[in-house]
Amino acid sequence: MRLDNISANETIKLSNKIDKLRIPEHVAIIMDGNGRWATKKGLPRSFGHNKGVNVLKDIIKVSKNLGCKALTVYAFSTENWSRPAKEVDFLLNLFEKVITKEIDQIHKNLIKISFIGDLTPFPDKLQLVIKNSENLTKNNKDFLLNICINYGGRQEIVRVAKKLALKSFLGEIEPNEVNEELFESELSIKGPKDPELLIRTSGEKRISNFLLWQLAYSEIYITDICWPDFNEVEFLKAIIDYQSRNRRFGGIKSLSNESLEDSYYSS
Ligand code: IPE
Ligand code: IPE
Ligand code: MG
Repeated sequence: MRLDNISANETIKLSNKIDKLRIPEHVAIIMDGNGRWATKKGLPRSFGHNKGVNVLKDIIKVSKNLGCKALTVYAFSTENWSRPAKEVDFLLNLFEKVITKEIDQIHKNLIKISFIGDLTPFPDKLQLVIKNSENLTKNNKDFLLNICINYGGRQEIVRVAKKLALKSFLGEIEPNEVNEELFESELSIKGPKDPELLIRTSGEKRISNFLLWQLAYSEIYITDICWPDFNEVEFLKAIIDYQSRNRRFGGIKSLSNESLEDSYYSS
């Protein structure tokens, strides 16, 4: 049997296990492990980044077809500037090339694309390509794709705090009007809701300054698979795992012996 057939069979098997009524609306992904994937194969790290782009294209399609409404992916962190200049340059060039090449297809698929992070340090050409892609797709309603570049969760929280402090200083709001809702309204990510599921590839068990506010109650799925090897089968596995979670939000949902507990508290 060819490898294609094996993975097609596995996709069908996994799809059958998915509860179509409990698909996460918003999935966040830390696409990690590009460099290690390439190095293991004796290739330059850039090969991993190139392959990673194709994986992202597939996962956008797969998640949209499954019924997700938004995908937020981590493409470049505020800390990634500390990498060798050659790698940073490669990544910035890759972003420009890929957006330019893919934007028509993204638009055709009624996907709204949004870039989250401080874009000002990027080359003018990249900033222009980003702005144009956002403008072109801004009215698309089928799916939201947030790409976090030069993004840091802490930086975003500080930015919002500064903005609210200024509004208060100017008398536009009272300090005690600041609450979760107001704070959230200033965050850049406008998803249907906070991500229900965070996927991180390559086995690292950390958040690396991603979506610190929005991940407060996300389910976290970590796979050892490096991002260039991630695919539909792995995505479906993550969704199945997510659907097995008991999301309590601090409560005590799904106690099997609930009536027993009730009588304990009332005695
Ligand atoms: C993720 O893969 C992509 C970016 C951070 C741009 P890495 O480049 O971090 O790959 P590893 O983790 O070093 O293998
Ligand atoms: C997080 O991965 C950032 C992106 C995937 C863009 P890193 O590879 O930068 O994170 P650390 O250094 O392992 O924490
Ligand atoms: Mg990494």
